[in-house]
Parts: sequence; structure tokens; C-alpha cells
Amino acid sequence: MSIISNCTASVIKTAAESLINGNLVAFPTETVYGLGADANNEDAVSRVYEVKGRPLGHPLIVHISSTKNLDKWAREIPEYAIKLARAFWPGPMTLILPRTNLAKDFITGGQDNVGIRVPSHTVALELLRDFEFKGGLGVAAPSANRFGAVSPTTANAVEEELAGFLSTSDQILDGGPCAVGVESTIIDCTQSAPSILRPGAITKEMIENFLSISLNTKTLKPKGVQIKAAGLLESHYAPKAKVILDGSPSAGDGLIALNSFATPGGVIRLSAPSNNEEFAQILYQAFRSADAMDLGRVFVKPPTGDGIAVAINDRLAKAAFDL
Ligand code: TXA
Ligand code: MG
Repeated sequence: MSIISNCTASVIKTAAESLINGNLVAFPTETVYGLGADANNEDAVSRVYEVKGRPLGHPLIVHISSTKNLDKWAREIPEYAIKLARAFWPGPMTLILPRTNLAKDFITGGQDNVGIRVPSHTVALELLRDFEFKGGLGVAAPSANRFGAVSPTTANAVEEELAGFLSTSDQILDGGPCAVGVESTIIDCTQSAPSILRPGAITKEMIENFLSISLNTKTLKPKGVQIKAAGLLESHYAPKAKVILDGSPSAGDGLIALNSFATPGGVIRLSAPSNNEEFAQILYQAFRSADAMDLGRVFVKPPTGDGIAVAINDRLAKAAFDL
């Protein structure tokens, strides 16, 4: 396993070939880094589960290079889903659609639907195009972290998470820090109207405005329903430090808050983003620095409002959830 920071065209071609040969390639996307495997190779996909320590049965998102490959993986695609794909792909959005025979149980966790995404990072897109040129059909890629841990937003964070578990023929492509910083918006497109299963940078308002509909907000927190998405577990995305969302930090605690909040004396300021987009971008890296400093507690002042704040608050609630 090696980090490759100079992602030239030939490096990416070699990585695509490596995926075709059944190896794993961690790659940057605009949201977080993914741990990629050929979505049609059961052995490669089972290594993804092993490397992540992820329980079997949690479905994986299939990444493709453009909507033109969508109907290879999905059938009965509603018109609203096509519109969303045309509007927001490439981008931080995953559509859950009824599957074709190509999406095997080892990808969908036995469900009759499949998650599909076209990421917008140039390295991811080039890797997917090269992979498809060599005959591949889709790259299964969960976030490149151990199960339940914080998603990596840099190549070094991928190495920290997975170095002990990847083999020498696997690779990590370094495409710099991720621009969005939280995972894609997941939209259930298996019903007559869309619903958001995981909030992200494609926000409720963007979808509502674009489709001229109003989304059912109850679907954002499907408490008590069968969990079909790992990101819907109550505890997830958590650093080792205890995450606290109310009260005030004391000397020695970490603090993550917008730069309009001052740092109390003795408190370790982990980051001071100037707006909510920047908050999303730095959050996971700030959690990682808390763990690197061995902090016991990290206080976070949750952002307010709509838009990306909804996704940040969703992840914060999960990071703060006490098992
Ligand atoms: O931004 C992202 O979505 C990143 C990058 C790498 O693309 N990927 C990512 O994958 O976050 P993962 O596996 O860490 O989270 C995907 C979530 C999981 O909770 C999974 O259970 C859910 O999506 N999911 C995938 N396929 C699904 C399906 N068919 N039905 C319901 N949930 C699904
Ligand atoms: Mg994940």
C-alpha cells in the first residue's frame, strides 16, 4: 500500500487497471475519500468489508462516471430522479434506485435497490472513466475509514485509518483535501416522491426548489424503522474523544465553533471556520486532530440554519451519541 500524491494521467490509468485486477484503490471525491473496488468483483468487494471492519449486509454505493451508465445498474428510474441526476451530477448526491441484475446482493446487502453516485472530483472522474474504458462498469466505494469512525477527508487520514489493513498491491490516491467534507446526500428514489435518507451538500432546499415540491422532513430521522443505511445508525462518524454539543468547555477541552465564538482561556481551539460550508469542510479533520492530541472531550457549537448546517448537525448528533 502506498500513497500516490502525483496523480498524473498514467498514475490514474494504472490505478484503474489495478481495480480491474481486483485490488483496492482509495481515491478522493469532493465529499470524503472512498475505498474503491470493482463493483462486479465479489472477492474485491468482500475485502472492502474486511478492511473497513464493516458488518456484512450494509450496502455500498456504486460510483460511475456519468448518467449514461445509470441504466446498467438501475431500472424503473422515476422522472424526478433523472432530473436530479441531470441537475446535480457530477456532485455530492447518491440516488437509491431499483436495481438491475448487475447489482448483486454483495453490493446491495440483499436489498432490491442500489445506491449510485457520479462524484465530481477530477481524480475520481478520471479514475472512473479509465476503469470503464478498460471494461469496468462501476466502482463500489464506502468512505475509507474503519466502521463507525470518522470519514477521511485527506489521503493521510486514509492512511491513518486503513494502513494496517490494506495490502501491498492496494493504493491510496492523494487528490488533496476534500472540498465538501461531509458525505453525499442520499436520496431514496424508489417511491413516487423522493425523500432524503442522509442530508449532505445537495440540500433539501436545493431539491425542493429544483423539483418544485416539498419534501417530507420526517424521513430525515427515520427512528424505529429498519436501518438500511449504516449512516443512519444513531452512533457513527465518531472520534475517540467524547463529543459534547452543549455546555461550555473547560481548560484542556477541545473546541470547534464558528470564528464568531471566542476561545475560553485554556481551551484548545481545534478550528474556527468562518461559515457553515467551511465548517463542513474541516469538521472531520478537527475531530482527527482532537484524537491526535489525545483530548478527552471536544465541545462543538453546532451551526444553525438550513442548507449544509442540516448535514453538519446530523453528523454531530451521531458523533455525540452515547452508546
Ligand atoms: O459521499 C459519499 O457518499 C462517500 C463517497 C466515497 O462517495 N461514500 C460513502 O459511503 O459515504 P458509505 O458506504 O460510507 O456510506 C453510504 C451509506 C451507507 O450508510 C449505506 O448503508 C447507504 O449509504 N447505502 C448504500 N446503498 C444503499 C441502498 N441501496 N439503500 C439504502 N442505503 C444505502
Ligand atoms: Mg461511511
